[in-house]
Amino acid sequence: MSGDEKALKSLVESIAATTKYKNVSSQLVRSIGARELAKGVSLKTAVKATKSKLHQVGGAYQAGHIDYDAALQTLRAASFAADWRNGCREIMGLHASTRERLPILDDFYSLILSGIAPLRRVLDIACGLNPLAVSWMPLAENAQYLAYDIYSDMMQFIEDYMQLARLDGRAEVRDVIHDPPSETVDLALLLKTLPCLEQIEKGASARLLDTIQARYLLISYPVSSLGGRHKGMIQTYDMQFAALLESRNWTADRYLFSSELAFLVDTTGDL
Ligand SMILES: C[S@@+](CC[C@H](N)C(=O)[O-])C[C@H]1O[C@@H](n2cnc3c(N)ncnc32)[C@H](O)[C@@H]1O
Repeated sequence: MSGDEKALKSLVESIAATTKYKNVSSQLVRSIGARELAKGVSLKTAVKATKSKLHQVGGAYQAGHIDYDAALQTLRAASFAADWRNGCREIMGLHASTRERLPILDDFYSLILSGIAPLRRVLDIACGLNPLAVSWMPLAENAQYLAYDIYSDMMQFIEDYMQLARLDGRAEVRDVIHDPPSETVDLALLLKTLPCLEQIEKGASARLLDTIQARYLLISYPVSSLGGRHKGMIQTYDMQFAALLESRNWTADRYLFSSELAFLVDTTGDL
């Protein structure tokens, strides 16, 4: 094993030994770690930079450890009490990204997706806890839902939730930059995902968009930072989205909510 490989192995082991990042896809840890080590810094500095990047793109959305056993109990109790949606809302509140969507949830999917319903196969890319919003989505009976994110404990929970909700689907640990989904679907959700992928690797969004096989894409962006600052984010993301659309034969409808900027993209011009 070369010196570089040894250093990368040590870095991956250091990250796997942390409580906060032990459940993160090792493929993503390796790719971030390799890029940091290639800067010629010490192992300690590269480990610190890798943790910082993982925080930016994942950890920052989870305040502390999410107790998935307790979350599943809450959902079971909600199901038993015929209070399913409130149970789902409570659990979505545990992830900053889905929590921001709660005030607009009753309108978000119905408004954007009513014209293309019912959806038979949906892909949720870098899903976080968003699969718990399925009962707000206009899906067909027996629809299939495929969800990917980088946390193994979260994906196990989403699989358990799907079973409880009798939702046909699958949740998988996947670094979608290096292992993009290839399934053909009616709709792919990329909710507040592209800015995270760009933080990991410049140009990752465009490459991912070119591999997804979806008739429609729902792409969204945050309108404020996690700290609550606005900093012209709407204008920035309007421009980023326009640049993505520029070289593609796609059409899009724009929706601005109080906590999210969304675009429903029809990709059929490219099919
Ligand atoms: C801003 S959150 C959005 C979560 C969800 N889509 C939503 O809007 O509720 C970003 C999500 O991307 C995930 N993520 C970051 N990098 C990823 C990657 N390379 N592959 C897959 N998921 C990733 C994080 O774990 C986090 O759940």
